[in-house]
Amino acid sequence: MFEPPSWDERYSGQEKLWSGNPNPQLVAVAAGLTPGTALDVGCGEGGDVIWLARQGWTVTGADFSANGLARAARHAEQAGVADRVDWWQVDARTFVAGGRSFDLVTSHYLHPPDGGIVEVTRRLAEAVAPGGHLIVVGHAPSEVFAQLGPTHRRAMFVAEELLPALPDDFEALAAEQRPRTLIRDGVTVEVHDSTLLARRTS
Ligand SMILES: C[S@@+](CC[C@H](N)C(=O)[O-])C[C@H]1O[C@@H](n2cnc3c(N)ncnc32)[C@H](O)[C@@H]1O
Repeated sequence: MFEPPSWDERYSGQEKLWSGNPNPQLVAVAAGLTPGTALDVGCGEGGDVIWLARQGWTVTGADFSANGLARAARHAEQAGVADRVDWWQVDARTFVAGGRSFDLVTSHYLHPPDGGIVEVTRRLAEAVAPGGHLIVVGHAPSEVFAQLGPTHRRAMFVAEELLPALPDDFEALAAEQRPRTLIRDGVTVEVHDSTLLARRTS
């Protein structure tokens, strides 16, 4: 689950893996921002990319799965926002912004193993334009995920662990676990989204 082949396999069938709805922490943050350029890393099937494009953002969807990106591009086409989006196949663990910068950099539920999300957050921060925002969201450790293996559970994190990844010219606006309900096997369960929101000051 931590390398492109397994995600390409998951995205190779017909069935949609995700709802297509935007993630609630993203909506809560972006609804208060003036649309500009955005980068969504680990964009999967493109639900957040499409929602942002509909709000007026010009969006780059990034993922290391070619099949995921192909699906996302199809969904963006169907949603009529293809002219506001582009795609970037890249591994978040090694990507460099390379001179590109964005008013909003967002990443949801990208869980590299062995604490890798801290280094990913540091790299994401480098892609934020002055005055821009960074939002990183993942699953907080919980008994709800007890069925997963130890490597997966260790890949979960709390938002405070990400704070050391912020460069000096960032201010943290929130680093907290936000409750969210999801329906699993017909049962409503409460989980917590570890949410880091930060702004680049210069
Ligand atoms: C759980 S899905 C979440 C997709 C989307 N963000 C959403 O919330 O619906 C995680 C996504 O991150 C991608 N991913 C995982 N590790 C990655 C990495 N190291 N670099 C880039 N993408 C990665 C996977 O291919 C997958 O599309």
